[in-house]
Amino acid sequence: MPEPSVRTFANLEELSLAAAREFARAASSHAGDKHLFSAALSGGSTPRRFFELLATAEFSRSIPWPRVHLFQVDERCVPPDSPQSNYKMIRESLLDGIGLPKANFHRMQAERPDRETAACEYEDDLRRTLAAPAPEWPRFDLIFLGLGEDGHTASLFPGTSALAEDRVAVCPNYVEKLKMWRMTLTLPVLNAGARVIFLVAGAEKKDLVRQLLRDPAAKPPLPSGLVKPALGSLEWYLDQAAASSLS
Ligand code: 6PG
Repeated sequence: MPEPSVRTFANLEELSLAAAREFARAASSHAGDKHLFSAALSGGSTPRRFFELLATAEFSRSIPWPRVHLFQVDERCVPPDSPQSNYKMIRESLLDGIGLPKANFHRMQAERPDRETAACEYEDDLRRTLAAPAPEWPRFDLIFLGLGEDGHTASLFPGTSALAEDRVAVCPNYVEKLKMWRMTLTLPVLNAGARVIFLVAGAEKKDLVRQLLRDPAAKPPLPSGLVKPALGSLEWYLDQAAASSLS
């Protein structure tokens, strides 16, 4: 894997504009008649503005949405209309404003009581859509990740079982500290990505960013530090506050 690339922006607005520009450029250049453009989107709060901008005409009109397929990086095991739902945030900030065919957004049905079956069916759908039968790992064109204050990414939290998962692409994951179940893409899928972009904003993340970028060999490794796309690029989009410990 080449060295991670780091781009620093004045603020979250500029970071979000850059992410929207890059998504639109990549989607419009990759999605051809013969193949689709695939992206996996995280939840949380950081990407909301990115999604809102992507839904504006400035960006949306250049994207061939019928040839774009969007997946979720992870989801909380709550109903899709719950305020905690990542899908709800993505729907409100992006999906409701764009002409993406309904079948092209692949929602993680993490609210289902049988989480294992829901994860398995999501993996089947992912493998079918990206034409990646086992044992190949599905390779997203773009994966957008966030960084939690404990170093988690996706729903791969420190000390949780999903971190060691290397047999399946999607799995439920119980997070003791939150006393809640999540559903998440696993590290093999994240590390199979063609491009993985972390979107990180806020001074509360500056020390984590420094550790991840300046001391990546620190032990124990943080979950976000295990994201190393072997045959892809790892990119960091930081606002000045999150980057303020790097210099
Ligand atoms: C989630 C996210 C999670 C998020 C980080 C950062 O379900 O919460 O997918 O991995 O990216 O927790 O969240 P913020 O962007 O809100 O800081």
